[in-house]
Amino acid sequence: MDGNGRWAESKGKHRVFGHKHGVRALRKAITFASDSNIQALTIFAFSSENWQRPAKEVSMLMELFFTVLKSEIKKLNKNNIKLKIIGELSGFSERLQKKVLEAEKATESNTGLVLNVAANYGGRWDITQAARKLAKLAASGELDADDIDEKVLAKAVSLDALPAVDLMIRTGGDQRISNFLLWQLAYAELYFTDILWPDFDASAFQSALDVFSGKERRFGKTSEQVSSKSS
Ligand code: FPP
Repeated sequence: MDGNGRWAESKGKHRVFGHKHGVRALRKAITFASDSNIQALTIFAFSSENWQRPAKEVSMLMELFFTVLKSEIKKLNKNNIKLKIIGELSGFSERLQKKVLEAEKATESNTGLVLNVAANYGGRWDITQAARKLAKLAASGELDADDIDEKVLAKAVSLDALPAVDLMIRTGGDQRISNFLLWQLAYAELYFTDILWPDFDASAFQSALDVFSGKERRFGKTSEQVSSKSS
């Protein structure tokens, strides 16, 4: 969801104004994904590196997360959306951690869109925590180290219960992964747009899906193999 700060600054406003409008864009994106029967939407709300921002912006973002979680739980439930936070939760205040757990619990039995919010998240952190988890299992004798393969690792990283990511959309003009879902994006289509996040609406989301639909996904095979049903 890149570009909130620049969007606000281009209007002569404080960056915080951009984040607040970013929440509006987020609501639109969630509604669009839910209406389009997308199975899961994962948003990058706060990276492990975002702590380095000015203290005032960080504390405002924390307050925004808290108020948004509090105000949106009912709407998520009404729309059958299941919320899951991925990232190192222990980095947040006790108050925010409690709110996160409350929101997850309140929506856990919903069967519609899975909404993953990456907060205090980094792709390297994710792979590291998976390695640590598996190392502990191996050390305790519950897992044979020789049995660790890609399938086992895929079960230890975030989003383990979901199919591989199909499409990654980055707004704001930069063409980087910026330590997002490094493991999970291995075969994802990457879509970059100059649109700043607060301006990202249903039609912008649809344009990304249209480009995605036109892609041939070969997963290492040849074009011929992919187009012939027998292979
Ligand atoms: C990136 O724009 C955006 C963020 C770091 C924060 C986005 C967070 C929200 C919209 C709130 C979501 C709330 C919940 C509970 C999920 P930027 O500041 O990097 O913009 P810039 O590139 O123009 O500086």
